Amino acid sequence: MAKPRNAESSQSIERLLASKEVIVVTGSGGVGKTSVAAALGASTATRLGGKVLVLTVDPARRLATALGLEAFGNVERQVDESLFVEAGFEAVGELWIAMLDTKASWDDLIVNHAPDSKTRDAILANKLYRNITGRFVQSHDYIAMERLHEIHTSGRYDLVIVDTPPTRNALDFLDAPERMADFFSSRLLRWLIAPARSKIVNRAAKPFTMVADRLLGAKFLTDIGEFFLLFQTLYDGFVERAQSVQRTLADQRTSFVVVTTPEPGPAGEAKFLLAELAKRDLSIGAVVANRMLPDAFVTRGAATSAKKLRGGAAELAETVSGRGIDADIAEGVLREIADRYDDFRLLAAQGAAVLEGLPADDAPVVGIPYLEDEIVNLSGVLELGEQLFTL
Ligand SMILES: Nc1ncnc2c1ncn2[C@@H]1O[C@H](COP(=O)(O)OP(=O)(O)OP(=O)(O)O)[C@@H](O)[C@H]1O
Ligand SMILES: [Mg+2]
Repeated sequence: MAKPRNAESSQSIERLLASKEVIVVTGSGGVGKTSVAAALGASTATRLGGKVLVLTVDPARRLATALGLEAFGNVERQVDESLFVEAGFEAVGELWIAMLDTKASWDDLIVNHAPDSKTRDAILANKLYRNITGRFVQSHDYIAMERLHEIHTSGRYDLVIVDTPPTRNALDFLDAPERMADFFSSRLLRWLIAPARSKIVNRAAKPFTMVADRLLGAKFLTDIGEFFLLFQTLYDGFVERAQSVQRTLADQRTSFVVVTTPEPGPAGEAKFLLAELAKRDLSIGAVVANRMLPDAFVTRGAATSAKKLRGGAAELAETVSGRGIDADIAEGVLREIADRYDDFRLLAAQGAAVLEGLPADDAPVVGIPYLEDEIVNLSGVLELGEQLFTL
């Protein structure tokens, strides 16, 4: 595992958790965002106290079960203190978990912000609304930000740690509020709602809508038109909140943790993300290099030993032969071990070099080794968390 670049990394992570109100954990797909978000939350509960919420977007039921919860949902749930004790820790603070339920969050949003109950019911019953909110990836990004904003402004938690969804591009998440606001004032939207708004246009557009309906399914365009017309009644609220979500992200009390693994793909994405965050003047709290190979692979002594092992394989094999071991086979095994060792050494060195190239500025780069055991319970999450504080 590469040494943290900054000798004060562990204090920096502690300082980060102590000083921020929102931490957004981001990075390429599958690098360990959800695991790191949970680990940061659990460590806050054991090291700092206060009330911390991990808002995850990952329907990884396994993690829910691991944390002693039947299932995650929009309802925030506290992880039982006894689980910390079982794992050999003491919780000085409270760890809460919630999973983003896109559909329920959209419904809440409509219920809370529709101008009247008639509009509310019409939107909730609209077929297109039900389709979009359930399946539209970008609706997921946007609602995650909405929910973060709602929870943060409620003041219920000292710290909210947000796990971001495995989007194709992690920036989609950041840009979601702005894009939603743009969309509401877009031409496309005006064009779509025109037939529903105006009888005259409606008549003129009729041949077109009839053809479109036949091609796209009955009432398709009518549904679209009605949906956006209804949705427009929420326009002011949406724009206002999108702007205030942007302000929360840019606030000094918000920070981003970028997770990566040492492979060139995820590291490349981390590099891009770090540059984009810096460009947007957003605060970078830490870079977490996950699933690193152990330090032992990059020490000079180890490389020499591997070389000697390969060179002296025949001689070494002789010393063990006769005890039910065939010297030739033993020699082959030793050479294979030495070769594999070199492969790992090369990988470890490449990983360390990749991390060196990340534009982390002053943010600490913290390495987490590849853990042998799968992370299946709070104990595993806490073990991962402890790695963030090990120098
Ligand atoms: N340091 C580690 N050592 C070993 N396994 C790990 C480590 N960190 C994470 N994992 C495992 O890697 C897998 C992916 O982790 P996780 O779900 O946290 O990634 P993610 O970035 O949230 O993925 P996605 O982008 O799909 O949401 C999980 O099975 C997790 O248990
Ligand atoms: Mg995840």
